Amino acid sequence: MAERRDMNAGGRRKGLGLGIAAGAVGILALLGITGLVVVYSGAYNVAATEEHASFTRWAFDTTFHNSVERQADGIVAPASFTPDRLAQGATAYKAMCQQCHSGPGVERAEWANGMRPRPPHLAEAAAGWSPQEVFWIVKHGVKMSGMPAFGPSRDDQAIWNIAAFVKELPAMTPEEYAAAGGGQQGGNTPPGVSPPSNGAQSPTPAPQ
Ligand code: HEC
Repeated sequence: MAERRDMNAGGRRKGLGLGIAAGAVGILALLGITGLVVVYSGAYNVAATEEHASFTRWAFDTTFHNSVERQADGIVAPASFTPDRLAQGATAYKAMCQQCHSGPGVERAEWANGMRPRPPHLAEAAAGWSPQEVFWIVKHGVKMSGMPAFGPSRDDQAIWNIAAFVKELPAMTPEEYAAAGGGQQGGNTPPGVSPPSNGAQSPTPAPQ
C-alpha cells in the first residue's frame, strides 16, 4: 500500500516535470514567434530621429561594455608614450574622431548629433575605459552603433597613439587641446570661431 502511494507520488512528480518542460517550450516558441513578427512586420521603428527604448539601450550598453571588457582582457599596453607619439595621436584624433566625439572646447559635427546612439563626448566618457579597452574599441569598432573599426586601415602603433591621447582628454583644457598635435584643427571648429574657408567643413552650410 505504502509502495503504491510512493509510485503515485513519483508519477505526479513526473507529470509536473513534464508540464513545466512543456510550458517552458511553449514560452520559448511564443518568444520566437513574437521576435519573428517584429522582424518581418516592420513594427519596430528604426528611425534615428527617435531615442532608443530604454530596454534596447540597456541591452546594447550592457552587451557592449561586457564584450569590450572581455575582448580587451590580456592586451598589454606600451609602458610609456613619447611626446611625439602623443602628438601623432592628437593629430589623428582631430582628423578621424573629433567629428563624432568632440573634444575639450570643440563640439561634434552637426551631422553626428543625428546618430543613435549619439557618439559620447570622449572628454568625459574616456575616463570610464582602460587604455587597453580604448585600443580595442578603436581597432575593432562596435557593431550596430556607428563606431568604425580603424584596425583595417591603421597599424597597432598608430592606434595606441590615439588611445593614449584619448586617455589624456578628460584632464585637458580647451587651450591644451587646441595646441595638441601642433595645433592642427580637424574637420570641426570651436563654437564662436569662424571656420577657415577651405571647404572642408561640415557637409551642410551653417544657417545664416
Ligand atoms: C562616425 C562617427 C564616429 C567616429 C568617426 C568615431 N566614433 Fe567612436 N563611437 C561612435 C559611436 C556611435 C559610439 C558608440 C556610442 C554608444 O554606444 O554609446 C562610439 C564609441 C566609442 C568609444 C566608447 C565610448 C563610450 O563610452 O561609449 C570610444 C572610446 C571611441 N568611440 C573612440 C573613438 C576614436 C578614438 C575614434 C577615432 C579614431 C572614433 N571613436 C571615431 C562613433 C564614432
